[in-house]
Amino acid sequence: MFLEERREKIIDYLEDVERASVAWLASTFNVTKETIRSDLSALARQGLVQRCHGGAIIVRRNLQSRLIKETGGNFAVLLKRLESQRHKQPYQREKTRKMKGKVCILGSFNVDIVAKVARFPKGGESLLALGSTLGPGGKGANQAMAASRAGARVHFVSKVGTDQFSQFAFDHLSGSDIHSFRLYQTDAEPTGNAIIYVSQQNGENMIAIYSGANQTITDDEVAELTHELATADVLLLQLENNFSATLNAMKLAQAMGVQVIMNPAPFSSDILSCLHYVDVVTPNETEASLLSGIEVTDLASAREAAQAIVRQGARRVIITMGSRGALIYDNQQFQHIPAFPALSVDTTGAGDAFNGAFAAAIAAGDTIAQAATYAAAFASLAVEREGASNMPQQQQVAVRLAQR
Ligand code: ATP
Ligand code: RIB
Repeated sequence: MFLEERREKIIDYLEDVERASVAWLASTFNVTKETIRSDLSALARQGLVQRCHGGAIIVRRNLQSRLIKETGGNFAVLLKRLESQRHKQPYQREKTRKMKGKVCILGSFNVDIVAKVARFPKGGESLLALGSTLGPGGKGANQAMAASRAGARVHFVSKVGTDQFSQFAFDHLSGSDIHSFRLYQTDAEPTGNAIIYVSQQNGENMIAIYSGANQTITDDEVAELTHELATADVLLLQLENNFSATLNAMKLAQAMGVQVIMNPAPFSSDILSCLHYVDVVTPNETEASLLSGIEVTDLASAREAAQAIVRQGARRVIITMGSRGALIYDNQQFQHIPAFPALSVDTTGAGDAFNGAFAAAIAAGDTIAQAATYAAAFASLAVEREGASNMPQQQQVAVRLAQR
């Protein structure tokens, strides 16, 4: 094995187990302890590991140390190479001693500007807001927060502008539980933002999103995901990025044998012809209606819609239905997961909480029904909190699950 390859494998191993001894690495890679010491010193100089007595510790979030300027690249060549490998032999996934599931998320970061209102304004009406906040959001970032809180090792990829909100995004992700992230920047568009009304009547929301930089992810930036996908269980995606990037990420994951969970929000008809890349699609009622052409108003119409979505190519479907819970359609069987009772304060990000927690549970090896039940408990706690990215702790989820 060449030096660079061995060093990459050492990093992969440490990413999984956090700490390893020189003696163990030397016997695993069949080299002398001196060689390993020199590898670890080189990796330490790059800021990737920290030397400790007798070995090394991974420097957590080693990928986040800077905002990264965009580059150009050729995605098609990479995909062709992966596909030709797949025909010769299945892609060798580098999974060693897995401690918890790993979820990769390619998705949006937005700045959420939220006005709390007694009721939604009518067209042409000005209304005094009861409160206002500016905070982190974006379906991708929210789902990354949720999956991390739900116990997954998360790698998040997103893109922002070069405005002051890019630093805001960086600070938010750095201070979070997200294991590692890459935050690209572009001069061409501002950081994404969302103007949100949250009604005091029922915690419901109205949102207008300007995706901005989220729409400028390049092929090369998607190709960079390859290294992370090699050790991932799940790729979780939404539809707030340029669809070319989302599609390429799905193709990459499929070529590498990584499960794809697609939260088709906000709905775009682009996804209709690409459902065969998706293992589990998780629309809410509105998105399920648009995907299937069947208006979802209750469980019976949700069943019809789920069947229509599978006919269009998706393998498994979960339709989330707010306080009515979620409907699973898997292997021609339906299962309804009721919502957990909650005191709803702000439903913004309920879907993100559900999707992030669901992906974490699937990555950890749960069945689809177990994962959806966990996600429903997790999301019921999220609607009790203000702010789309404000996710509960695992202990709170355990208590709520025990109440069922
Ligand atoms: P949003 O767009 O507001 O982020 P969404 O429409 O994508 O949300 P929902 O279907 O409203 O997603 O909610 C996702 C899941 O969250 C539901 O399946 C349910 O398990 C849980 N949930 C949502 N609202 C409530 C509620 N009021 N009480 C309990 N659980 C809820
Ligand atoms: O799902 C909620 C999210 O949708 C908000 O954080 C907003 O930024 C939009 O992306």
